[in-house]
Formats: sequence, C-alpha cells, structure tokens
Amino acid sequence: MSSSSLSYAAAISRLPSSHSLNSTALFPSSAIRSHVSYPISHTNRVSRFGVKCSYADAGVKDTNSVTIDVEANIKAEKLVVLGGSGFVGSAICKAAVSRGIEVISLSRSGRPTTLSSWEDQVTWITGDVFYVNWDEVLPGATAVISTLGGFGSEEQMQRINGEANVIAVTAAKEYGIPKFVLISVHDYNIPSFLLTSGYFTGKRKAESEVLSKYPNSGVVLRPGFIYGKRKVGDYEIPLDLIGEPLERFLNATASFTKPLSSLPASDLLLAPPVSVDDVALAAVNAVKDDDFFGIFTIDQIKEAAAGVKV
Ligand SMILES: NC(=O)c1ccc[n+]([C@@H]2O[C@H](COP(=O)([O-])OP(=O)(O)OC[C@H]3O[C@@H](n4cnc5c(N)ncnc54)[C@H](OP(=O)(O)O)[C@@H]3O)[C@@H](O)[C@H]2O)c1
Repeated sequence: MSSSSLSYAAAISRLPSSHSLNSTALFPSSAIRSHVSYPISHTNRVSRFGVKCSYADAGVKDTNSVTIDVEANIKAEKLVVLGGSGFVGSAICKAAVSRGIEVISLSRSGRPTTLSSWEDQVTWITGDVFYVNWDEVLPGATAVISTLGGFGSEEQMQRINGEANVIAVTAAKEYGIPKFVLISVHDYNIPSFLLTSGYFTGKRKAESEVLSKYPNSGVVLRPGFIYGKRKVGDYEIPLDLIGEPLERFLNATASFTKPLSSLPASDLLLAPPVSVDDVALAAVNAVKDDDFFGIFTIDQIKEAAAGVKV
C-alpha cells in the first residue's frame, strides 16, 4: 500500500482537538484521480491505498479551528473486459468508464467502429483469447469481466463458452488478479439431464472454474434474455422494443405465473428479460464491491443494478 499526502483547505471549525480525525473512508476514485498519481500493483488488489489529507482553516474567522488528518483508502480500479466490443461488453465498458474505472478491452475485432465518446476512454486491444500474450493485457488489473460466449456448432460452443473462459480464469489467477466476473446464463429451469448443449455445458464448466479458483471473490451472473440496442455492422437491432414490455408484463403477472415456475423448462417462457444496462451495472458493482461474490440469478442482477442506480 502506498500513500501520499494532500493538503486540502477546508473550513472545518469548532472541532476540539480531541476530535481530530484519523479514520479510513472510501472515496470514489474518479473524485480524486486528477490530484494524485498512483502506482498500480501487478499482483493484487493493493491499488487501494491511503491518502493523508490535512484539513485546515480556509479563511473562516474562528479561533477554535483546528487542523485534522483524514486517512482515506482509494480504490484505483483497472478493469479488463474480455469481449468489450460486444453487446454486453460495450455496455460494461461504458458503465465502468463513467464511474472513473480504467478499462481495457480484449477482442479479436478491437475497437468498435461506432463513434461514441466514451470509447476514447477505453484501451482497445485486438487479440484472440486463445493466443493472446497476457502480459499485454493483465498486469496491474484489479478485476476481469468475461463476456466470452456464443453459439455455433457443439464444438464451437464448448470452446468459446467453456475453454476460452477456463483459459481466461487460469491466466487471471496466475497474474494475481483478485476478482473475476463471468457473464453466464440462466438455466431456464431445464432439467440438468437435458442441459447437454455445448452452450450450457461450456457455461457450467466456466462457472465452476471461476468458483473454484475464486471461492471468495468470483462472480457468476446468470441473466436470461438480455435486451438493449444491439449493433450489427452499421445497423442497430432494438431488442428493447420486445424486451422492455415483456419484462414489464412478466413482472406484472409474476404472482399468477409463480405456481408454474416449478414446471420443468417453464422459465423458457417465464424468465424475465433483463436490460443490458442492468447487467452492466451489476457487473461493475461486482468489481467495486468486495462483498459481492457467488452466483447471481436474474432477480439478483436486477437488485444489484437497482442498488447502483439510486
Ligand atoms: N445476449 C443475450 O441475450 C445473452 C443472454 C444470456 C447470456 N449471455 C451471455 O453474455 C455474454 C455476452 O453476450 P453478447 O450478446 O454480448 O455476445 P457478443 O455481442 O457476441 O460479444 C462477445 C464478445 O466476445 C468477443 N470474442 C469472441 N470470441 C473471442 C475470442 N476468441 N477472443 C477474444 N474475444 C472474443 C467478441 O468480439 P470478437 O468477435 O471481435 O472477438 C465480442 O466482443 C455471452 O457469454 C453470452 O453467452 C447473453
């Protein structure tokens, strides 16, 4: 842990010297980033560091004014998003940079072709998770979020949902990255003996890798259908036109449909969609909150996102 001293002129008066503060508090890194330069550890989450602040009288005439010391732990997050150029990945990158988090994205296509201003704040690395030199991606990171996944042949689905994530978790662990967040998928209440598609078996393999290598910090988000504006080339598919009303409808009818939820595969119809922004907020919250780990269902993703929004 490194520390630096800052002198802040603050009008804090009428504090008897016995109240002199020397406490630890968390400040958003964005609020203070421009004032300090900070080394980032290459091994763990120690980019949390102390800042000593001296508060002194700022011109308020009060003879009782005293100087106080405040010690703050500042969390300088550096987030690696695997697949940051994708539908979910780009929402995560956007949410993270807007919270002052340093973001690196890795994907085969690199920087997206759109011209959104937040994209300038992301470091876009072009590379394939199966062949990348992790030295160019992981050193200094405090968290990795993987959005790697997709459809295709059985073999392709096993590879991108399962193996790609296992490789990423293994690399993150080797580099001492303290937090790994996996965007997985809801099981739709399908009996396990029917969940044999490479998509689901790959996802579950990736999940167990995260949970075994990161038992006290790993996060698995299991959303169902994710809606938002999905960019495909120069076009935008407004999935929110279906997803948003469907989410509202299923929420409104939840008390009637609840008894059906014990039926096998009922969630294929009943699992509520979740917005891409909510998935992104829950993922970013997972990065910032050390107490947030384990498997998160659709409802828990929404709850976490709502907690960040307020
Ligand atoms: N969309 C949904 O409704 C939904 C629902 C539940 C769960 N999920 C899960 O959420 C995750 C994200 O979904 P999405 O819809 O955002 O998918 P997506 O748009 O296809 O994004 C996937 C990202 O992974 C990157 N990628 C793929 N193969 C790669 C490789 N070998 N090396 C490096 N990067 C690679 C892609 O970029 P390049 O192709 O340029 O490499 C892209 O940036 C997936 O795991 C998916 O299973 C999605």
